[in-house]
Amino acid sequence: MNETHVERMSAMARPRSVFLIMAVHVAILISTSCGSRSSEHSRKHVAFFIFGDSFLDAGNNNYINTTTLDQANFWPYGETYFRFPTGRFSDGRLVSDFIAEHAKLPLIPPFLQPAGNPHYFNGVNFASAGAGALSETFQGAVIDLKTQLSYYKEVMTWLRSKLGNVGAKMMLSRAVYLFSIGTNDYMSLFLTNSTVLDTFSKSEYVGIVIGNLTTIIKDIYSRGGRNFGFINLPPVGCLPGIRIINPDNNGNCLEEASSLAKLHNQALSKLLQKLEKHLKGFKYSIFNLNISLRQRMNHPSKYGFKEGKGACCGTGKFRGVFSCGGKRLGKEFQLCENPKEYIFWDSYHLTERVHKQFADEMWGRANNTNSVVGPYNLRDLFQTL
Ligand SMILES: *[C@@H]1O[C@H](CO)[C@@H](O)[C@H](O)[C@H]1NC(C)=O
Ligand SMILES: *[C@@H]1O[C@H](CO)[C@@H](O)[C@H](O)[C@H]1NC(C)=O
Ligand SMILES: *[C@@H]1O[C@H](CO)[C@@H](O)[C@H](O)[C@H]1NC(C)=O
Ligand SMILES: *[C@@H]1O[C@H](CO)[C@@H](O)[C@H](O)[C@H]1NC(C)=O
Ligand SMILES: *[C@@H]1O[C@H](CO)[C@@H](O)[C@H](O)[C@H]1NC(C)=O
Repeated sequence: MNETHVERMSAMARPRSVFLIMAVHVAILISTSCGSRSSEHSRKHVAFFIFGDSFLDAGNNNYINTTTLDQANFWPYGETYFRFPTGRFSDGRLVSDFIAEHAKLPLIPPFLQPAGNPHYFNGVNFASAGAGALSETFQGAVIDLKTQLSYYKEVMTWLRSKLGNVGAKMMLSRAVYLFSIGTNDYMSLFLTNSTVLDTFSKSEYVGIVIGNLTTIIKDIYSRGGRNFGFINLPPVGCLPGIRIINPDNNGNCLEEASSLAKLHNQALSKLLQKLEKHLKGFKYSIFNLNISLRQRMNHPSKYGFKEGKGACCGTGKFRGVFSCGGKRLGKEFQLCENPKEYIFWDSYHLTERVHKQFADEMWGRANNTNSVVGPYNLRDLFQTL
C-alpha cells in the first residue's frame, strides 16, 4: 500500500509541464466557447466523493498490497455489466455508479487507479473493501477511513491548484460526500479472534466507531463540505457468510452481530440529527439499508427476485463460504445462472439489480421512498445550486 501511495503522490506532484499544457488547453477552451460554457460548468458541476467499504469500492483494492479476501478483480465479478472484473464486489455496477448516472456524472474512478492525466472535477472514489472506521479493522489489508481522508486532502490540494482557493471551496461545498462504513468494524469481531468485546461493552465499542466517523465528518465539514449521504448498516447477522458461522443456529441470523449493527444505526441517526443542529449548512441524507434489504429478503418476489437469503456465488449452505471466484478459500465454488434472481451476489455482497433498486430509492425516484430515505434524498443534495 505504501509503495502505491508514494507512486501516487509523485504522480500528482511531478507533472508541472502537464499542468501548464492543461492550463493552455483550458484557456483555449474558454476563449473559443462563448462564455456560456464556463458558466454552465459552474452552474451544473456537482462533484461526488465516495468513502467507505466494499459496498462502494470501485477498485481501489486492486492497487494495494492485500489478499484476495479483500479483492474482487477476478471472474465472475463484473460478469453481468462490465464483462470484466473491475474490482467491484458485485456482478455489475454499485449503488454509487447508478447515483453518478442519476447525477449526470460519468463513472467515478477509484483514487488509486493509475491515470495518465488524473482529474478530480467530478469527484473520486476512496472506498476500500474491508475498511472500517477503526484503524484496527482488518488492519494492513485495507485503506482505513482515516487514510481515505488523507487522500481526500491530496485531492483538495490538487483542486486548489486548478481552481484557486475560492473556486475549490465553492466546488467542495456543492459536492456530495457519500459514506458506507461500519459493517466491517462489527463483522470483523466475528471473523477474527477478536477480544475487543471482553474489554468494551457493545455500546462502548459502537461509541468508539461512531466517534471515529464523527471526526471524519467534522473534518470534511470544516474544509467546506456540506452535503452528506449515509448508508446505514444491514442486518449484519443475516449476511450469508455470517449466518453460517454458528452451525447450531439452524441457518438463522446471528443475532449478536445484528444487535451491534442495530446499536450503530441508532447512534448514527442520533449523531446526524445532532450535527444538523449544530453545524450551520450541514445537510444529510440517510438511506435505511437495514429496512430496504429486509423488505427484499423477506419478500423477494415482490421486488422481482426468486432467492432472498442464499447467495448466487459461493460454497455450501446459503453459499455462505466466501469462495466466489475460486481464489480465496479453495478453488471450488458454485455460481448461479441468473444473478438477477438473487439479492446476494456472494457471501457478503449484493447483486447489481439490488444496487440499482437501492440507488433509485436513495435518489428519491422509486415509490414510497420517504420511508427509507431522509430527511433529504440524494436528488435534493445534488440540486443545491
Ligand atoms: C505485501 O505484503 C506481504 C505480507 O505482508 C509482504 O511480505 C510483501 O513484502 C508486501 N509486498 C509489497 C510490495 O509491499
Ligand atoms: C480512529 O480509531 C483508531 C483506533 O482504532 C485511532 O487510531 C484513530 O486515530 C482514530 N481516529 C480517526 C480519525 O480515524
Ligand atoms: C481463532 O483461534 C483458533 C484457536 O486458536 C484457531 O483455530 C482459528 O483458526 C482462529 N480463527 C481465526 C479466524 O483467526
Ligand atoms: C432493522 O429494522 C428492524 C425493524 O425495524 C429492527 O427490528 C432492527 O433492529 C433493525 N436492525 C438494524 C441493524 O438497524
Ligand atoms: C409507482 O406508482 C405508480 C402510480 O401509483 C405505479 O403506476 C407504478 O407501477 C409504481 N412503480 C413501482 C416501481 O412500484
